[in-house]
Amino acid sequence: MDIKKIIEQMTLEEKAGLCSGADFWKTKAVERLDVPPMMVSDGPHGLRKQDDQADHAGINESIKAVCFPTGVTVCSSFDKELIREMGENLGEACQAENLGVLLGPAVNIKRSPLCGRNFEYFSEDPFLSAEMATAQIQGIQSQGVGTSIKHYLANSQEHRRMSSDSRVDERTLREIYLPTFEKAVKEAQPWTVMCSYNRINGTYASESHRFLTEVLRDEWGFEGFVVSDWGAVNDRVEGLKAGLDLEMPSSFGLNDAKIVRAVKTGKLDEAVLDKTVERILKIVALSQEKRNKKAVFDREAQHGKARQIAGESMVLLKNEGLLPLQKKGKVAFVGAFAQKPRFQGGGSSHINTFKESSALQAAKELLGSSVEVSYAPGYSLTEDCVDKKLIDEAVAAAAAADCAVVFAGLPDNYESEGYDRSHMRMPESHDRLIEEVAKVQKNVVVVLHNGSPVEMPWLSQTGAVLEAYLSGQAVGEAVIDILFGDVNPSGKLAETFPVKLEDNPSYLYYIGEKDVVEYREGIFVGYRYYDKKNMDVLFPFGHGLSYTTFEYEGLKLSRSKIHDTDTLSVTLTVKNTGSVYGKEAVQLYVTPPAGDIIRPNKELKGFEKIGLKPGESKRITFTLDKRSFAYYNTTINDWYAESGDYGILVGSSSRDIRLEGEVSLKASSSIPWKYDMNSLVGDILKDHKKAGLIKGLLKSMDEVFGQGSDDDESAKDAITDEMKDAMFKYMPIRNFACFGGGLVTFEELQDIIYKLNEA
Ligand code: BGC
Repeated sequence: MDIKKIIEQMTLEEKAGLCSGADFWKTKAVERLDVPPMMVSDGPHGLRKQDDQADHAGINESIKAVCFPTGVTVCSSFDKELIREMGENLGEACQAENLGVLLGPAVNIKRSPLCGRNFEYFSEDPFLSAEMATAQIQGIQSQGVGTSIKHYLANSQEHRRMSSDSRVDERTLREIYLPTFEKAVKEAQPWTVMCSYNRINGTYASESHRFLTEVLRDEWGFEGFVVSDWGAVNDRVEGLKAGLDLEMPSSFGLNDAKIVRAVKTGKLDEAVLDKTVERILKIVALSQEKRNKKAVFDREAQHGKARQIAGESMVLLKNEGLLPLQKKGKVAFVGAFAQKPRFQGGGSSHINTFKESSALQAAKELLGSSVEVSYAPGYSLTEDCVDKKLIDEAVAAAAAADCAVVFAGLPDNYESEGYDRSHMRMPESHDRLIEEVAKVQKNVVVVLHNGSPVEMPWLSQTGAVLEAYLSGQAVGEAVIDILFGDVNPSGKLAETFPVKLEDNPSYLYYIGEKDVVEYREGIFVGYRYYDKKNMDVLFPFGHGLSYTTFEYEGLKLSRSKIHDTDTLSVTLTVKNTGSVYGKEAVQLYVTPPAGDIIRPNKELKGFEKIGLKPGESKRITFTLDKRSFAYYNTTINDWYAESGDYGILVGSSSRDIRLEGEVSLKASSSIPWKYDMNSLVGDILKDHKKAGLIKGLLKSMDEVFGQGSDDDESAKDAITDEMKDAMFKYMPIRNFACFGGGLVTFEELQDIIYKLNEA
């Protein structure tokens, strides 16, 4: 495709037309110039290709496809290779179905456990989220299919999602909400970026020149096109100027006409339109070039992959030696999710699965007659109330077995795209079932199907809890694989489970007042907050148990002192000290130096998943660079790693640190600081190169003060040395002139300020 030539030949109307969809899922064709349409589809954990009668809400059927574990689940694998493979499988399916772009991954940060779409998102931690998103995009795009990383930006709630205004300060945007998009763009170049519905600090994401052009393209070098979330366009012409390329879905010509009018009346420079058309055509052409007509989509093989991914992602939250279960005796499966598991969420990501598995059915197929499995639903899937009869039946089944596995969690209507939860509890019928079963059976395992944290009032009455999350269509087999020990669990929580909702840092401000949503907890999202507050949590970020044990040893840093331009290698050995094969997600956190900057106690800066046979050990190396130590400084509008001693913590979870080291870092520049009459004495004294300029004045001032209190003993007692120090430290230097009683004139002080500001 000769894009420049095509643009030259296009009419104004054709160009404007190309900037919105032909329908729900396709870009427009320009037949006379041989420009084909390109199809896009959700996403993100499977293919939702609607052929006819497409609709937004996913009510009409899409083609039969494979539902992989949702974002929250696969992110808990802490395994970049695994999510890359999932991406390859998704890409393969898209290629076989002639899709140009898969609408995902969805990477919004989990600010609150209540967000209805948390099941689709990865994590509360930007580093983990960024690494996993980048790998998934690389995997999908390796198959010649594009991605649409979404929803850009600060779109962490569903409530009033099309109008809410996320008010977020710059440092928080840079440290928490932007990094996933930043890394993905810089390292994986998604073909498209989907802008979100909401406003950011007053401006619709779809009209934000700052985020769509200055940050995304000028700073990060994004080369693809920006597509609107479905219906996110407010002012089409302003959007175009800001850098929004494709409006989806079709606006039935209405907005195209506005573009034409704006060009004709001189309100929009046609060159802006041409650039947009060029960006869209480049991706359409790329998609054509990468088309592989022979591609096939082996659904059975992908089901197997979905099972493996689910098995390596589920998180064993608690185990008092109850798991794995033996493949003999009587086991009662109670809870309707045993027969009809919840394995995906509602809304645009809903996949029309070609087959599904339940734990009950999988137990029959995989365990045969060696284990006698009984079943009782325990609660209704259609009515949200405690049904005594169902509970009694379940209790009887549990009492008659050697062990009870209760399948519980959140039903579809409790969490979904489009609205948020109002509390963090499971249905009362699920909680009650667990409690009643635990009264008659001492061996209780709980398997949870939910997309985000829940309260667990019954936790102490259970022997084991497996967080299966929303694990995709092969959930049944994956649960059985883990329960009976064929797969050793190795998932780790990508989010903190607080004890109660009120503990969550966003609690005071979530879900905002009308459209105004203040992100006042700032950078203290998830464990960054719970750690700083030294709070108890139900389960910490990074937590997840295994059927084996791992020993960490031999932490070595390549150097003890580094410059901020250097890299640091951190090596250590992990050994499997148990008796079965297992995988461990090793996590590296960095702690900041003591200083004036308000920072989290620690932040994840590296993770690596390794598989080890019993007795086997492996050496792992992490490489850290300036960014691993830096915070975002809003004076210089850049990342800054201050000089000082940084802690290097390596562990099995954010609260299970096994090895600690320290590195001293030297910054190559200092943050520019301008002194004036209001600069504090203490700040100048800290600046070693400049302190000498005021030391004399300080001494004289001290003498002046000393004289005043000589003959007044009670006044002397009232002023302790500490108080005097503080008074001087926090005194603006202008007061040398006023309080000092002729010590110095304002003109002389100006002279000192001039010298203070000299390089
Ligand atoms: C969702 C997007 C989705 C789009 C198309 C929107 O409502 O927010 O995530 O890709 O619909 O279905």
